[in-house]
Amino acid sequence: MESIENYYDTTLKLFETLKNKNEDNGAFYVENPWMRELVTNLNGLTVLDIGCGYGTFIKRALVEGVSKAIGIDISNKMISEAQKELGSNPVAELHVCPMENLDSLKIESDSLDLVTSYFAIMYCKDYTKLVRDVHKILKKNGRFIFIVQHPILTSGIDMGFVKNDQGEEVWPNV
Ligand SMILES: C[S@@+](CC[C@H](N)C(=O)[O-])C[C@H]1O[C@@H](n2cnc3c(N)ncnc32)[C@H](O)[C@@H]1O
Repeated sequence: MESIENYYDTTLKLFETLKNKNEDNGAFYVENPWMRELVTNLNGLTVLDIGCGYGTFIKRALVEGVSKAIGIDISNKMISEAQKELGSNPVAELHVCPMENLDSLKIESDSLDLVTSYFAIMYCKDYTKLVRDVHKILKKNGRFIFIVQHPILTSGIDMGFVKNDQGEEVWPNV
């Protein structure tokens, strides 16, 4: 079976497609609204995004005035896309790093206000270790907020955008 990093390295085109569709995908309508409600008031916070992909959340965090934003992803290609998206920014740090090795980054203990992850933790090979590592680097009362994909969006046979009666491309069953 193909490794996850190879999968994301070779299917970056799929993510470009999703990115260019902006709001027209299932995640935007079904799953992301929860995250939009929970992940707010970022100004001044120190944040880490796990499985950051091409940097969507890191970009938002920078716009909203975080004091530090760290993004990690297992895929070289995702991180290099994220680097292109973000340009150089003294507040942002991106690392090619599997979440299973988060501790190898030596992020200071009790230093982060918020750890997020959008649609990546389902790939984690050692969830208990990840939670321990996250707990260690979060400040007291820091938050770990993540979302994983709901099977309603991933268990279909022909997954992909379809045309609705108006001829618009939409995600099916949403
Ligand atoms: C569905 S994409 C989501 C990307 C991004 N969070 C977003 O919402 O646009 C899943 C991401 O998780 C990354 N990933 C998969 N397994 C990982 C692991 N073990 N450690 C870190 N990142 C991983 C993939 O390379 C990919 O970028």
